[in-house]
Amino acid sequence: MDLRTSRLELLPLDPDEHAEALHAVYGDPAVMRWWTCPERASVERTRQLLTEELAGPGALLWAVRRAEDGAVIGVTGLLGGVALPGLTWILARRAWGRGFAAEAAAAVVDHAFRHVGHDRVEAWVESTNTRSIAVCRKVGLTERGRFVQRYGHRDRPHEMIVLGRAGTPDPVSVVHLQPVVQVVDVAATAALLVAVLGARVSFIAGEPAHVAGIVLGPWSTGPGLRLVRPPRGECAPVELVLDVGPGFVGLRESALASGVAGVEPIVDQPWGRREFALRLPEGHRVVLSTPS
Ligand SMILES: CC(C)(COP(=O)(O)OP(=O)(O)OC[C@H]1O[C@@H](n2cnc3c(N)ncnc32)[C@H](O)[C@@H]1OP(=O)(O)O)[C@@H](O)C(=O)NCCC(=O)NCCS
Repeated sequence: MDLRTSRLELLPLDPDEHAEALHAVYGDPAVMRWWTCPERASVERTRQLLTEELAGPGALLWAVRRAEDGAVIGVTGLLGGVALPGLTWILARRAWGRGFAAEAAAAVVDHAFRHVGHDRVEAWVESTNTRSIAVCRKVGLTERGRFVQRYGHRDRPHEMIVLGRAGTPDPVSVVHLQPVVQVVDVAATAALLVAVLGARVSFIAGEPAHVAGIVLGPWSTGPGLRLVRPPRGECAPVELVLDVGPGFVGLRESALASGVAGVEPIVDQPWGRREFALRLPEGHRVVLSTPS
């Protein structure tokens, strides 16, 4: 189905028909800087990529055509093969800065809710991709969470933001989960987490401390823990897995330098993660994990 906006026509994507025009998009390293793969070297490779993107179950992609001159300037739509309806957009460099992406995205969001029947849409955007984040905000998506990802063609992992919009506001939204971890010396464990993980102590209470709030990063909010002193001095060891970004190797170095016990070697896990673990004094095992 075609979609229309005041300045654009969205036409069902056809790799054979649109690859030639769209090679100006997928062949441009400045545009592909954010993409899941590097720029395509030829029209044929662009055609293959478009075919692959259309092959994902549920994919609904449109070529974006400017009404005034009929130029095909990009692609937008809903990704295939994802658990939740995922928005996508990409435009030729020459078409940036005219509001076309937001105009096209608004039409796709409206279509997803009104005609496809989705009750929510989301977009995954690299945290430094400010233009794409701005598009999300213009079409009503707000930040829902973050995770770390690594594309096969890149050396290092990067931070992704998940932005989403529900058709009707969600009655419940869990913003954080805070596990409670029992430790004998709350102040010492808090200091250790600050030294090794760059954590932040949001509060600490009691003399000596019997409870502390820990944010596992240097910002005002983020994943965290509550440390509590157990009533009878005994702690059942637990295991925590922390998803961390490009600082993974540096974290291991700071763990070793801090003298924390039981820093294990880095292991490439079969589930696509590089991981190492360290132990807190009570035997709790903290696994630091990053994409392989
Ligand atoms: C993400 C991307 C599609 C955004 O394109 P964009 O042109 O910046 O986005 P918009 O359509 O919202 O345009 C906004 C700009 O148009 C300007 N504009 C000009 N005329 C306008 C109009 N009539 N209406 C609205 N905005 C207008 C705005 O002021 C704004 O300019 P600014 O960024 O200089 O402030 C583009 O940067 C891109 O293709 N990036 C590479 C691919 C990519 O990262 N995709 C997303 C992966 S998650």
